[in-house]
Amino acid sequence: MSDHNFDCVIDRHNTNSIKWDCMPQYLGIDGSDLLPMWVSDFDFACPPAVQQALQQRVAHGVFGYSERRDDYFTAMQQWFARRHQLTIEREWIHSIEGVIPGISLLLQMLTRPGEGIVIQGPCYGSFAKIIGLNERRMIDNPLQRKGNSYEMDLPQLERLFMVERPAMMILCNPHNPTGRSWTLTELYELATLCQQHGVTLVSDEIWADLQLDGHRHTSVLSLPAHLLPNMVVATSASKSFGLSSLRISNFIIPDPVLRQRFKQRLDAHGLDVFNALSMEAATAAYQHGEAWLNGLLGYLTENRRWFAEQLTTRLPQLQLMEADATYLAWIDCRQLGLPDDELKQRLIEEARIVPSMGVGFGEGGQGFIRLNLGCPRSYLEQALDGLETLVAKNPHLSHAPV
Ligand SMILES: Cc1ncc(COP(=O)(O)O)c(C=O)c1O
Repeated sequence: MSDHNFDCVIDRHNTNSIKWDCMPQYLGIDGSDLLPMWVSDFDFACPPAVQQALQQRVAHGVFGYSERRDDYFTAMQQWFARRHQLTIEREWIHSIEGVIPGISLLLQMLTRPGEGIVIQGPCYGSFAKIIGLNERRMIDNPLQRKGNSYEMDLPQLERLFMVERPAMMILCNPHNPTGRSWTLTELYELATLCQQHGVTLVSDEIWADLQLDGHRHTSVLSLPAHLLPNMVVATSASKSFGLSSLRISNFIIPDPVLRQRFKQRLDAHGLDVFNALSMEAATAAYQHGEAWLNGLLGYLTENRRWFAEQLTTRLPQLQLMEADATYLAWIDCRQLGLPDDELKQRLIEEARIVPSMGVGFGEGGQGFIRLNLGCPRSYLEQALDGLETLVAKNPHLSHAPV
């Protein structure tokens, strides 16, 4: 286990952090005295081994054009073998600065303007954004709420495949915002449907390492070999180790033809040179970050357990959805009886926190908020106090049926 102190508060103001410094541009609010719980990056320093690797590389002082070295690939392959029992061939791996840019290239490669791409809402807003901005159509196959969790609607998906004949589906595993990690059975049934209907399954597994409470990640890459040819898996060390601004991600593509087409797309955009610092950080994280990550997962699991317990006793009007993974809390606020605009305003003005509003995740998000629990415990205490104030300032809300 790591002896890292995740309780330590690091002031992120004035670091060009989107979450802490860019609320005026992105949200139209000053935000300087609010607790930001919106963007999904965490407020911890990255592993010391990553900091050292970066410092050493910076001290060298020369930053000419760079390519991935053997140890970049080996570190990643060994990580996936060790953490997720997956064998990834080196030639399956292509790198690009981010998961979203890579998915955007894939949708340009696999579909034409006007064609549909399937997602399962509520869904991460950037999927909708890149589908829309690339002039494709988003086809939503909403997840079904089961108690305080979610399930895929596979019969409805099959109907959609038959009617819409899409060429591509984006799977989010683990799922942002709900925190579901899909099971082998669910993935098998989904991938089988995709194969039967000629749909390329793009599985965004950027959250794979952040499993809570000893849960295990199941990648679509662990499915039987006959299902792999129409699959692409996107991964990155960014969420796991707090490296989102360093910009490097990996697209794992077992099928040689699909892989070649993707490589051609990368080259067509001049995306064949890599950031020296990003590679150094990702390599060090996969080589030396495991004990640190285990410590982080223990902290995140405890953060979530404690937050859930506090909500149940102090704010029973708010229902936290169960999650297998991520540090995202997906919270049903509908018992407060507030329209989304008013809920947002009160969260900012009365609770003094900045949430991601559920409506930003599409259809199934009305009345929900997503809070980022990837922070020192003291921030969560502050958020809970703020939420209590919100309810106390609106006495009629505290009597809403629970
Ligand atoms: C599911 C998912 N995919 C992709 C991203 C962003 O990836 P990148 O910064 O590598 O584009 C996020 C960030 O929150 C995410 O939640």
